[in-house]
Amino acid sequence: MAGLAVNVDHIATLRQARGADYPDPVAAAVLAELGGADGIVVHLRGDRRHIQDRDLYLLKKTVLSKLILEMAATDEMLSIAGDVRPDLVTLVPEKREEVTTEGGLDVVTHADTVANAIEILHREAIAVSLFIDADAKQIHQARALSADMVEIHTGRFCDAEAPAEKTTAFADTVEAAKTASELDLGVNAGHGICYNTIKAFKGVAEIDEFSIGHSIVARAAMVGMEKAVREMRELIKELGIG
Ligand code: PXP
Repeated sequence: MAGLAVNVDHIATLRQARGADYPDPVAAAVLAELGGADGIVVHLRGDRRHIQDRDLYLLKKTVLSKLILEMAATDEMLSIAGDVRPDLVTLVPEKREEVTTEGGLDVVTHADTVANAIEILHREAIAVSLFIDADAKQIHQARALSADMVEIHTGRFCDAEAPAEKTTAFADTVEAAKTASELDLGVNAGHGICYNTIKAFKGVAEIDEFSIGHSIVARAAMVGMEKAVREMRELIKELGIG
């Protein structure tokens, strides 16, 4: 069975929106593991828009499955990764103005930077995944750079509205997974996967693990809403006023 790594960034987004100390992504990670998550993913961004350093350090102490750190290949992040020592680092591109990671890391253009980051992380015995587009050139380059695995960007498939574009994007994703698997790279897949798009992956045996965040956090808010309102109603009832 393919694994599921749960990204809890957007629990932190909700917290940061109010500058509150809840909801806590560390607590959400515990619950995600209780639900069967095979790994917990956080993206520590340079601008700290959601996950904070405190979250990462606490998750290192509390995650029982495996901790996956998504990060840009910057000196700052490499230093933090070496200190925290997550089970896996996924190198991603990062632009300050983007809402979320927009495309895969171009490991051909940025070969030197990526090679340097992989060397530093391997020296610390941290496995490295590269988040790349479903493109054979990128996958072969990931192999040449000694990455341990790749995460294939599924955003183009998940976000496509035109059926023809969706079909092509999915075929490219499957082809990329097969190529990576043939090259003995671990194969993860993620970005934009929801409760509908996941169904397309039936039978794609090359995928080892899915990395999913936004749709799970969004669904948690929906399936938890009724209980949350009941709890507040109960507290108001106990006030004995009105
Ligand atoms: N994988 C990578 C590399 C990502 O950057 C993200 C988004 O943080 C995800 C997976 C999860 O994407 P989503 O939140 O759309 O499920």
